Amino acid sequence: MNLILMGLPGAGKGTQAEKIVEKYHIPHISTGDMFRLAIKEGTELGTKAKGYMDQGELVPDEVTIGIVKERLSKDDCAKGFLLDGFPRTLAQAEALEQLLADIDATLDYVLHVDVPNEQLVERLTGRRICPTCGTAYHVIFNPPKEEGICDKDGSKLIQRDDDKEATVKKRLEVNLKQTQPMLDFYQEKGYLVTIAGDQNIDKVFSDIDVKLRGLS
Ligand code: AP5
Ligand code: ZN
Repeated sequence: MNLILMGLPGAGKGTQAEKIVEKYHIPHISTGDMFRLAIKEGTELGTKAKGYMDQGELVPDEVTIGIVKERLSKDDCAKGFLLDGFPRTLAQAEALEQLLADIDATLDYVLHVDVPNEQLVERLTGRRICPTCGTAYHVIFNPPKEEGICDKDGSKLIQRDDDKEATVKKRLEVNLKQTQPMLDFYQEKGYLVTIAGDQNIDKVFSDIDVKLRGLS
């Protein structure tokens, strides 16, 4: 099962990815998570990515394509993969065609989680994440059992640096520009499936799962 999960910042990609990989046991490849890990570990990649992420800008294509190429070449991707947050530009989508050809893989679906723009700012500014396990919560839409504490490991939840309102607006603006050409690209190739993302989390997953059950 070879999948791409697309959607604007805050559309719910990470939330749905967690459910998909739990059920279908495929590796979750999130470029955002890879960059955040590199920043935490203080690697050269992290230093490169941090400036762009803090400003709400995209990390340059050659850097991003490079890390995905490396990740897709690992053995565990032979059984399938879920790309989350990549590709994010038409150049990345075009480069991915070659990366997939190199590992002899073809896409099954590009799942586009579609949420009206006006809901995204509220989702992102209300998001809180667990610094230990990465789980995303929302102060209103998906609160933990105990306020400010991760259900899974008891860690104190934090706000992502790029979830402050000014950076959120910049991220939405930057990503909006890139989205339509990619949707057209995948529509033309016949991979695009649009999922209504403005429903509750379980209903969004159930709509995704209806498509995926047909594959396995
Ligand atoms: P990345 O980490 O990928 O961020 P993003 O695309 O901005 O997406 P988010 O993680 O913010 O949102 P999400 O869609 O996963 O939503 P979530 O499930 O958390 O990238 C970060 C940065 O890295 C980029 O800005 C860029 O600089 C760089 N980068 C990454 N990939 C790159 C690439 N390919 N090229 C260049 N640069 C790249 O949900 C959001 C909130 O809403 C949560 O609080 C959640 O609980 C809540 N929620 C989720 N679903 C629902 C629902 N159905 N109803 C109500 N609330 C919901
Ligand atoms: Zn946790």
